[in-house]
Amino acid sequence: MEVVGVCAEPSGWSGSMPGLWRQRLPSAWALLLLPFLPLLMPAAPAAHRGSYKPVIVVHGLFDSSYSFRHLLDYINETHPGTVVTVLDLFDGRESLRPLWEQVQGFREAVVPIMEKAPEGVHLICYSQGGLVCRALLSVMDNHNVDSFISLSSPQMGQYGDTDYLKWLFPTSMRSNLYRVCYSPWGQEFSICNYWHAPANCCLHSDPHHDDLYLNASSFLALINGERDHPNATAWRKNFLRVGRLVLIGGPDDGVITPWQSSFFGFYDANETVLEMEEQPVYLRDSFGLKTLLARGAIVRCPMAGISHTTWHSNRTLYDTCIEPWLS
Ligand SMILES: *[C@@H]1O[C@H](CO)[C@@H](O)[C@H](O)[C@H]1NC(C)=O
Ligand SMILES: *[C@@H]1O[C@H](CO)[C@@H](O)[C@H](O)[C@H]1NC(C)=O
Ligand SMILES: *[C@@H]1O[C@H](CO)[C@@H](O)[C@H](O)[C@H]1NC(C)=O
Ligand SMILES: *[C@@H]1O[C@H](CO)[C@@H](O)[C@H](O)[C@H]1NC(C)=O
Ligand SMILES: *[C@@H]1O[C@H](CO)[C@@H](O)[C@H](O)[C@H]1NC(C)=O
Repeated sequence: MEVVGVCAEPSGWSGSMPGLWRQRLPSAWALLLLPFLPLLMPAAPAAHRGSYKPVIVVHGLFDSSYSFRHLLDYINETHPGTVVTVLDLFDGRESLRPLWEQVQGFREAVVPIMEKAPEGVHLICYSQGGLVCRALLSVMDNHNVDSFISLSSPQMGQYGDTDYLKWLFPTSMRSNLYRVCYSPWGQEFSICNYWHAPANCCLHSDPHHDDLYLNASSFLALINGERDHPNATAWRKNFLRVGRLVLIGGPDDGVITPWQSSFFGFYDANETVLEMEEQPVYLRDSFGLKTLLARGAIVRCPMAGISHTTWHSNRTLYDTCIEPWLS
């Protein structure tokens, strides 16, 4: 296998990835202040003081807490007094670390926040972060997440050429990236943990095993309950502790492929997109989706006209799809 320049700094790479690295400013100062907002804001309306659940924000690939400054303003304005924590972990290139490692890191960070919030917390998880959060819900048997807001997150995986992939694996196209991603080496990269080649993608290479993804994915196939594992039943029970699942995405995203993956849709073997209700994982209720929908606990908020890097800054989107679920 050809190992391409994964760790080298490619020349001009920031130019080819607009908006993804942008200004990497130190942001910890702002975050450290946030837990004290309730103390700093004695003028908050009495009726609301202390009544908004804490919000935890988990960022996406090549991203950091700085991207969420607009979102923080919106929450401050609409729900004054809310304690918001944007977790500054696995920022920038560290976001390529394997997702299970990230899940462990984020778990350690969310536990103390949850413990201080007997009424529960809300999660807003952007892009790749949405998969980190779903795994957290699966592995934490005592989480108290009320709204899990999945903000343009490839919940059923990703199968598309993007600038991210071209930078990481310049010689691969989506039709052969499985060769890299579905190797033990590839699974050491977060994006390969949710790389989802459709079932018949790789028949020419391996006619006897028609679903390499199912065999090789060490992350998505497990949290989806698609490949059996000893903790599958426990993870499903844990996931179902969530109060509601809010799915946000849209056709103009430009990165999530297919964009319906934000709503648990995905390609079938012929690369036709099937909606959530047609997915085998839904029909088998393998990790709890069907149960959640039957409970009325899945909210779908599709929105056109929003590109991938602007989901967290678009005010219309915030007012329509996020604010109602942060009470
Ligand atoms: C929250 O909003 C109030 C009122 O507009 C403002 O004074 C305060 O600085 C804001 N806090 C943050 C952290 O943005
Ligand atoms: C299945 O995955 C294992 C571990 O990654 C690998 O050793 C094996 O070759 C894979 N089998 C097929 C048919 O791809
Ligand atoms: C299953 O759960 C047990 C107990 O929580 C844990 O020790 C083990 O690592 C888990 N296994 C997997 C594959 O996650
Ligand atoms: C894919 O297309 C072929 C040819 O049109 C058809 O025979 C097959 O049933 C389709 N498979 C699925 C899963 O839709
Ligand atoms: C925000 O989203 C709305 C709804 O899709 C869209 O019409 C608008 O152009 C977006 N605003 C910005 C600044 O991108």
